[in-house]
Amino acid sequence: MDGTGKVLVAVRGLSVAYTLANGSRIPAVDDLSLAIGSEEIVGILGESGCGKSTLANALLRLLPAGAVCEQGEILFRGRNLLRMSERELRAIRGREVTFVPQDPALSLNPVLSVGSQVAEILRAHLPLGRKQRRARVLELLGEVGFVRPEEIYDAYPHQLSGGQRQRIAIAQAVACRPALLIADEPTSKLDAPLQEEIVALLAQIRRKHGTAILVISHDPAMFAGFIDSIAVMYAGKIVEIGNTAQILRQPLHPYTQALVEMAKSAVGAPVRTHFASIEGESPNPAAFPVGCRFEPRCRERMEICVQRYPPSFVPMPARPVSCFKYGE
Ligand SMILES: Nc1ncnc2c1ncn2[C@@H]1O[C@H](COP(=O)(O)OP(=O)(O)OP(=O)(O)O)[C@@H](O)[C@H]1O
Ligand code: SF4
Ligand SMILES: [Mg+2]
Repeated sequence: MDGTGKVLVAVRGLSVAYTLANGSRIPAVDDLSLAIGSEEIVGILGESGCGKSTLANALLRLLPAGAVCEQGEILFRGRNLLRMSERELRAIRGREVTFVPQDPALSLNPVLSVGSQVAEILRAHLPLGRKQRRARVLELLGEVGFVRPEEIYDAYPHQLSGGQRQRIAIAQAVACRPALLIADEPTSKLDAPLQEEIVALLAQIRRKHGTAILVISHDPAMFAGFIDSIAVMYAGKIVEIGNTAQILRQPLHPYTQALVEMAKSAVGAPVRTHFASIEGESPNPAAFPVGCRFEPRCRERMEICVQRYPPSFVPMPARPVSCFKYGE
């Protein structure tokens, strides 16, 4: 636990499943536990479809129809978000827990100026007059890196670049000084130099305001030098947790090892979103095997790996890993 050492969010035994029209159940998040400390930056790392966005949406209680939190709890400052009324949630969402989307082009309203869209967040949550609100928006636009905030205030989303739109989404997300900001693949639509700028901006926000941040990515390289700890997700479960330097230098789980290896081989690519994938495919979520879910793709598989799901072993201090290489 970094930052102040206090736990801000504790996810315990969370399971979220989708029910498809044909009746099959997709356990997208399966008995998952995770803690985020105050002022900590935590990364969720995993391939497409492993359940990262489902976890993020569950934290915001913004799951689509058909998705149900079947068990577990999400404690925010000790209070279970899953038990809160819509009214209680509205006071938290957008104010204390906020969201930066993957593609702000989809979340910004094309017919409103971007300044008014940041102001709208303030209007919904803080008792500010119109002038105060405008002044605060200009301040926020400066904070997220715009050198001429007045000009940007009146711009429309289509007049801005992808990187600028992402800065607007971040201005919205930090407008009320949240305790936790959730960023779901915040740089995957941007090319490499812009990715670094957005990452630097998020790091600066944490430094300046002590905001805890949960960042989702499928690219381990995005986390280097920025994230305190990484939770690696595979097929709905966290398979390994550790501080970032440890995970990147000495990954323990064969899946993490493969992800880190691939990221290294992709260094220098202009756009880091399409590096080669690990050989083999994730298991069908409608019929997960009883054993280790990575087993069909694992070069180190053993007999026990197909018999039951590996529990969490702790081969090094603060390095839980679900793999039979480390126990039994
Ligand atoms: N609305 C939905 N209805 C049914 N199944 C869904 C829905 N959204 C996601 N899923 C399924 O849940 C699982 C987890 O999906 P999720 O979007 O959380 O993964 P992800 O890790 O965010 O993937 P990506 O990196 O592609 O964004 C996948 O099997 C996916 O097909
Ligand atoms: S439990 Fe077995 S199959 Fe799974 S990652 Fe470890 S060695 Fe590979
Ligand atoms: Mg996703």
